[in-house]
Amino acid sequence: MVIESVADEGRTFEPHAAFVQQARISSKEEYDALYKRSMDDPEGFWGELAAQELHWFKPWDKVLQWDEPTVQWFAGGQLNISYNCLDRHLTGARRHKAALVWEGEPGDSVTLTYAQLHHQVCLFANTLKKLGVEKGDRVAIYLPMIPEAAVAMLACARIGAVHSVVFGGFSAESLKGRLVDAGVKVVITADGGWRRGSIVPLKANVDKAVQGTAVESVLVVRRTAQKIDWHEERDYWWHELQQTVSAICPAEPMDSEDMLFILYTSGTTGKPKGVVHTTGGYNLYTHITSQWLFDLKDTDLYWCTADVGWITGHSYTVYGPLSNGATSFMYEGAPNFPDNGRFWQLIEKYGINILYTAPTAIRAFMKWGEDWPGRYDLSSLRLLGTVGEPINPEAWMWYSEVIGAGKGPTPAPIVDTWWMTETGGHMLATFPGAHTMRPGCAGLPFPGVEADVVDREGNPVPVGEGGYLVIKRPWPSMIRTVYGNPDRYRQNYWEQVPGVFFSGDGAVKGENGYFKVLGRVDDVLSVSGHRLGTMEIESALVSHPMVAEAAVVGKPDDIKGEAICAYVTLNEADQDQSQEELIQVLKKHVVAQIGAIARPDEIHFTEQLPKTRSGKIMRRLLRSIASGEEIAGDMSTLEDRSVLDKLRGS
Ligand code: PRX
Repeated sequence: MVIESVADEGRTFEPHAAFVQQARISSKEEYDALYKRSMDDPEGFWGELAAQELHWFKPWDKVLQWDEPTVQWFAGGQLNISYNCLDRHLTGARRHKAALVWEGEPGDSVTLTYAQLHHQVCLFANTLKKLGVEKGDRVAIYLPMIPEAAVAMLACARIGAVHSVVFGGFSAESLKGRLVDAGVKVVITADGGWRRGSIVPLKANVDKAVQGTAVESVLVVRRTAQKIDWHEERDYWWHELQQTVSAICPAEPMDSEDMLFILYTSGTTGKPKGVVHTTGGYNLYTHITSQWLFDLKDTDLYWCTADVGWITGHSYTVYGPLSNGATSFMYEGAPNFPDNGRFWQLIEKYGINILYTAPTAIRAFMKWGEDWPGRYDLSSLRLLGTVGEPINPEAWMWYSEVIGAGKGPTPAPIVDTWWMTETGGHMLATFPGAHTMRPGCAGLPFPGVEADVVDREGNPVPVGEGGYLVIKRPWPSMIRTVYGNPDRYRQNYWEQVPGVFFSGDGAVKGENGYFKVLGRVDDVLSVSGHRLGTMEIESALVSHPMVAEAAVVGKPDDIKGEAICAYVTLNEADQDQSQEELIQVLKKHVVAQIGAIARPDEIHFTEQLPKTRSGKIMRRLLRSIASGEEIAGDMSTLEDRSVLDKLRGS
C-alpha cells in the first residue's frame, strides 16, 4: 500500500451530556490523568488495577519484566480467568444474573445465569479431564456460535488446557493445518450449525481434518440433529458424557504467564500463524478495556456480533464482558436470515443496550436500506462500537444517525476501536464519555499504550503524514510468541522497525493526537473485516494441478472493504473446459482449501505475471490494474512491459 497523507475530514461530534453524566470515565481530564499515570508509572498503574479488578490466588512478584521481545506481566502471580469470569460473581447479586443470552438462527433461545454457566463449565471441564486432557494440552474448538462455544473456552481455561478456536467457516484443510501446528489432542465440535437456513457440516469437516493428526478424541455437541458419521473409538457426545462426571471442578491456579489460548491469524506468508496469549495480562486488559470503552454497567445487555472464532469474540464476547459480570448476548446465524431486519429485530426483542459490530456489516445494512432498522424499536441502544477495518465517514454517519441517534433517550456515542489479534485488546479508541468523536479516526491510545507513527527506521513522521503504526512499549495483553516459532514472532513484530511493535498498518496522526488508521501496508487483505494473507490464497490456487502461478491482490469494494482479485497462469489447460467453468473450479478449490471467506471475487487468466528481473511478482502493478487505476511509480525493474498491456485487456 502506498501511504499518503490524508486531510482531516474535519467533522467532530461530542458525546451527549446525558451520556457523559453517567459515564464511568466522564471527562478528558480524567482520561489525561489516567494516561499520564500509565506512562509515568506503568507498574503502579497496572499493578493497582490488577489488584483492584481481578481475583488472584497468589500475588505477583513483579508487575512487568521486559526483555525485548519477551515480556512477563505479573510474573509469580497465580489466577484463573474462568474463576474471574464465573466463581467470583457467584457470591453476590450476580449469582442469578444472566451471563449469556443466546438466540439461535432458527429462533430458539437460551439464557444462562452466572450460576448456570458455572455449572455447565464445571461439567464440561470434568468431561475434558475424563477424555485425558491435562494442563497445557491443546484443545481445538470448532463450533457454531452457540453457548457451548463460550462454555468450552471457559472449561479449557478452568483446567489450564490451551484452547485454539477455529472459525466454523474454515474448511477441513484449514482446520487440519491448525490441528497439526498446535498438536491438538481433543477437538470440540457440533453435528452442525445454522447459517442462512442451511447446516454447516462441522462434524464432517472434523472427520476429514483429524485424519493423520495427533487428535485422540472428538467431543460432539448436538445442535442440528442431522445425521453424521460416527467413529466409536474416537467420538463422544457431550450430552452423554456430561451425565457421567461431577459438577465440582475447582479452577486450577495458573501462573500469570501460562498460555491461555492460541488463535491462528493470517500473515504475509502462506501459513497462518498461531498467536499466543497468556493468562494474567490478557485477563486484566480485556477486562478494563471492556469496562471503560463500552462503559459497561450491570444493567446492560451487551452484544458483540463477532464469532468466537475471531479475537473479537474471544476478548469481547466471552472474556472481557464476563470478567466484568456483564450480560453478553450471542447470536448464531446470519444478519439477513430470515430477512434483512434480523439484527434490529433481536435488538428490539431483547432490549440490547450496547452493539459492537464491523464496518462491513454497517455498509451492508446501508445497502439494504433504512426501512429495515426503521421497522424496529432501537431505543434501548446507548452505545455503538465498531472494529475490524477503517470505518468510512459515510458508514459512521449512517450508524450514528440511523441506528444510534435520537432513537433512545440519549443519542448513542460511537466507539471506533483499532486493535488486532496480536494486541489481544483495544489499542486506539475514544472514551465514549470523555472524547470528541471524529468519524474515520480510530482515536487516542488506551492508557498504557504508547502508539506512534514512524518511518522504517523508527523516526516519528511529522503530524499529518503517513507512516507505520507502531507501539513503543509492552502492554498487558500483548502477543507473547508465535506458537512453535519464536523467530517468526521476533522478525514479524520487533524487527520490522527496530525496537518497537510493528502492527503492519499504516496510519496518520493528527494535531489533536488522534490516529487515523489507513489499512495494511503488507500483503494482508481485509475482506469483510477478516484478515487474509495474499500468499495464503496464492498457495491454495497453486495447489490445484492446473495452476502454474498465481498472484492475489485486493481491490476496493463498497461492502467488503477489499475484494479478492486473482491473476493466474495455467499449466496445460483442459481444452474441454470453458474459461467460466475453470474459474468456478478454481473458486471452489480455494473454498475447499481455506473456506468461503477466501473465495476469489475475480479470477483472471494470463500468460505471464508482471515480474521484476529477479523474478519477484510486482503486486503493486496488479493492484493498480485490478482497481482500474493509472499505473504509477517506478517500473524500471519490470522484466517485460508488454505483460501489462495484456493484463489490462484481460
Ligand atoms: O488493519 C487493521 C484492521 O484489522 C487488522 C487486524 O485484524 P485482526 O487481527 O483479524 O483483528 C480484527 C479485530 C480486532 C488491523 O491490522 N483493523 C481492526 N480494527 C480497525 C482496523 N482498521 C481500522 N480501524 C479499526 N477500528
